[in-house]
Amino acid sequence: MAKNVGVLTAGGDTPGLNAALRGLGKSAIHQFDIQLIGFYDGFRGLLHDRYIVLDETALSGILTIGGTILGTSRDKPEKMVVGGKVQDMREAMVETYRKHRLDALVCMGGGGTQKNAYSLADKGLNIITIPKTIDNDIGNTDVTLGFDTALGIATDAIDRLHSTAHSHHRIIVVEVMGHNAGWLALGAGVSGGADVILIPEIPYDPEKITEAILLRSRSGKHFSIVAVSEGALSVQDRQREQDLLDEKANAKNKKEKDKSKEELEAFYAHQSNRTIELSQSLEKLTGLESRVTILGYVQRGGTPSARDRLLGSELGGTVAALAAEGKAGVMVSVKGQSTKPVPLKSVVNVRRTVPLDHIWLETARRVGTCLGD
Ligand code: F6P
Repeated sequence: MAKNVGVLTAGGDTPGLNAALRGLGKSAIHQFDIQLIGFYDGFRGLLHDRYIVLDETALSGILTIGGTILGTSRDKPEKMVVGGKVQDMREAMVETYRKHRLDALVCMGGGGTQKNAYSLADKGLNIITIPKTIDNDIGNTDVTLGFDTALGIATDAIDRLHSTAHSHHRIIVVEVMGHNAGWLALGAGVSGGADVILIPEIPYDPEKITEAILLRSRSGKHFSIVAVSEGALSVQDRQREQDLLDEKANAKNKKEKDKSKEELEAFYAHQSNRTIELSQSLEKLTGLESRVTILGYVQRGGTPSARDRLLGSELGGTVAALAAEGKAGVMVSVKGQSTKPVPLKSVVNVRRTVPLDHIWLETARRVGTCLGD
């Protein structure tokens, strides 16, 4: 029977994390008599042994609060910047784990965190993870914690943009988060009734978008909402990306490798410029005024939805039960109406993007939404 469990939250914060911490902590205390300690700021807190005992007082009043009471960071145990140098700090983290006589470490995070947690499991730690990210892009789970809240926020933003776009007879290009997966833009675009939805899974052609907007114009609708995922690329840019990836793969020496790595980084760093350029080219091609709205971090902030509170509580409770049983090396995933453990290995390096035959895409096409192809 487990006695001591540690927990950390890593990667981008999401609404619902505190609900998961509370669900885990309260079940641990009441049902299993486990002591829970929380490490601050992701894996960095584990490295430096900065922690708080998550007792009743610490867990009280946090269910409805956004973010994470533990703080977070994007540090990677295997490649951590310490003293200005990139180092593998896993052994030092194992030491902290042993010092507290932990029976398990719970890591709540996105795709990167699943991979980092797995690298600690490799060092012999008992790891249990929770899938959380507003991007909804983790493999082997139907949904991730935080997605529902972000979906609601982005949908609300699109609703609000409608009335101003309508009043000014404008195109509004709204950039939605989601990294390299289109779930958030697609979900919010369909539920907010965007006229055009652009996602990374479908390279877009500005001419096709123009045709769709002009068609609306001719039918008397002089405004259009274009929901674009931050990872969406035009056909041309997708080709440029592929060329850069090929260049990197075929680099003959370190100099060529570094150069192509730099070029790729610059390519990805310019996504918001691409959204602005898209708006400018639509203005030129359609003759309609166009404006850009980048939703940004507002999508990750604030109160979690009821669904994420429920999911966080459920995931947290399931993790407590698994830790009490001595189960490890698993991620608690959402399958249909329930939560169940799947091997952590099965989710590492698996990005769940929108399948091209997904019902949301079909639904968008059925109601006449342009997907840029
Ligand atoms: O993974 C969540 C996410 O919000 C992505 O949608 C976005 O691309 C990224 O994080 C932003 O990262 P950061 O918080 O490091 O700027």
